[in-house]
Amino acid sequence: MAGVAANRQIDHIDTPAGGSLDRGTIVLPVTIRTASADDLPRLEWFGLHTPHRGIIAHAYGMQQSGAGAMLVAEVSGFPAGQVCVDFARKRHQGRATLWALRVFEPFRGQGLGARLVTAAERVAVARGFRHTELGVDRDNGRVLPFYERLGYEACGTESGQYSYRTPDGVLVRVPIDQWLLHKMLGTAPSRLAAE
Ligand SMILES: CC(C)(COP(=O)(O)OP(=O)(O)OC[C@H]1O[C@@H](n2cnc3c(N)ncnc32)[C@H](O)[C@@H]1OP(=O)(O)O)[C@@H](O)C(=O)NCCC(=O)NCCS
Repeated sequence: MAGVAANRQIDHIDTPAGGSLDRGTIVLPVTIRTASADDLPRLEWFGLHTPHRGIIAHAYGMQQSGAGAMLVAEVSGFPAGQVCVDFARKRHQGRATLWALRVFEPFRGQGLGARLVTAAERVAVARGFRHTELGVDRDNGRVLPFYERLGYEACGTESGQYSYRTPDGVLVRVPIDQWLLHKMLGTAPSRLAAE
């Protein structure tokens, strides 16, 4: 009955489809923190990244084993962004690798991506790294100014392939064709050297 009443009310509002009925600005709390097991299903973002469930689990496993970190940007309780750090892959070059940076589309352009990168760099410094490195797909060149503003510079290219299995068991092979960017971080403590 309430629904019928509400419909009747809307019938009387002469607003074209998509027309505004209210406008305003809301301010939401943001926390950048390490991921917890509870985040993993929610980081699939309502199905968008469900095919990547295995990759998300792998990133979390790296954090649990100490080989990496998985950071989330929690906005009002929702994990609206993430970035992963791999301490192992280029340790021999003294570099921490940032990967899988992404922000859920409705939350983009609010500074979350920059905050995530900065937090990942702080994690890398705390682990004794003096450099971070990341790859940008050659078909994602529009993101380059974002990283340049954060102090990243081109340092080469990388190509190859990686694969993952979807929850349905399908093996997906993905070609890698990337620019490599790096950044020298502030003075780092000596933990890396000690390990
Ligand atoms: C890249 C990404 C994480 C940035 O997140 P964000 O929260 O929007 O970042 P910020 O708000 O800190 O910065 C946004 C700035 O980067 C620019 N930017 C980032 N990615 C861009 C893209 N693909 N195309 C155009 N501009 C882009 C925005 O235009 C914006 O610039 P402005 O401040 O001058 O308006 C987000 O766009 C994203 O998730 N993209 C899809 C996944 C991806 O490409 N990840 C990077 C893999 S290397």
